[in-house]
Amino acid sequence: MSLDPLSEAKGIEKEIIAWRRDFHMHPELKYEEERTSKIAEEHLRKWGYSIKRVGTGIIADIGEGNKTIALRADMDALPIQEETDVSYKSRIPGKMHACGHDAHTAMLLGAAKIIAEHREELNGRVRLIFQPAEEGGNGAVRMIEGGALEGVNAIFGFHVWMDLPSGVIGIRDGPFLAGAGFFGARIIGKGGHGAFPHEAIDPIPIASEIVLALQTIVSRNVNPIETGVVSVTAINGGTAFNVIPEEVTLKGTFRYYQPEIGEMIKRRTAEVIGGIAKTHGARAEFDINNLVPPTINSREMADFVRKVARRYGLRWGKVAMSMGAEDFAYYLQRVPGAFLALGIRNEEKGIIYPHHHPRFDIDEDVLHLGTAMEVALAFEFSRS
Ligand code: NI
Repeated sequence: MSLDPLSEAKGIEKEIIAWRRDFHMHPELKYEEERTSKIAEEHLRKWGYSIKRVGTGIIADIGEGNKTIALRADMDALPIQEETDVSYKSRIPGKMHACGHDAHTAMLLGAAKIIAEHREELNGRVRLIFQPAEEGGNGAVRMIEGGALEGVNAIFGFHVWMDLPSGVIGIRDGPFLAGAGFFGARIIGKGGHGAFPHEAIDPIPIASEIVLALQTIVSRNVNPIETGVVSVTAINGGTAFNVIPEEVTLKGTFRYYQPEIGEMIKRRTAEVIGGIAKTHGARAEFDINNLVPPTINSREMADFVRKVARRYGLRWGKVAMSMGAEDFAYYLQRVPGAFLALGIRNEEKGIIYPHHHPRFDIDEDVLHLGTAMEVALAFEFSRS
């Protein structure tokens, strides 16, 4: 093709970074992405995309043909108080783009612009999905229900990645990110005076026993060849030094790759919480839910990405499996594709803080590489 994605993307690098900084300064939480999606829609309309709205999400199409490739970016931020010193720091107290979704939106807007400028060279249709609520909101499901995958033959999405050196595109075959779920429980005993425990049912030692017993699910019930995680992440109960509280609440998450391990963890979590509470005469109310399935890339589509990266001189490498999770998994359950990582770690610039950290930042000098890859995938897929 006459189009060189890398030099085209480099040519609009400043614009991509400016978009990212603007989104970064104005973070919006899940399903509140009004401003972000309005800006994206205005650009997309100007560039000639046909637009379908799904709440704060956008499905934007360009080109015609038998094949459709979808490219997805998520737009939501997190309820975190930013603690960086950058000029483009969040202007909104308690909200921050601490996962890089600002960059995902900016990179895909850059790709949108280049694709539109070269639309007559397209052989198929390109669909851009700007998705709300990746962070615990399953925005992907809403977009799918809104028709985002209708007629789509393959889908790709990027996540900026702190565990890869800056500028490296991480590609993985098969399982990449974990399935995830969450649980919450109330252990209800009988409150009383700290001096008369025999007259109370103390939920604190019961909850403690539950926390320790939950640790045995992975160590004693998961086949050591396989993998899983159970983490208790919140425990609350009691207010005074001499009062036995009525109840203690617990929260946590579990992760897995094999669906049967996910089911086993759910079953054992319920048995442990219910069983231990009962043993001590307390009552337990709990719910245990799946959040997202594992993110599993298609080998064929990962091959396609590697081929395209080689052809256009984009640096790529393997990326490690992670117990992190992503609602991109829902798209991959229905359509072949690949979730890709873009390395952003740059120790010289002090860009080392993990995703969801209040000092998280991105090496912006590599954002155009994500855009270039998206453009290259769109044009190569339409002629593959
Ligand atoms: Ni994220």
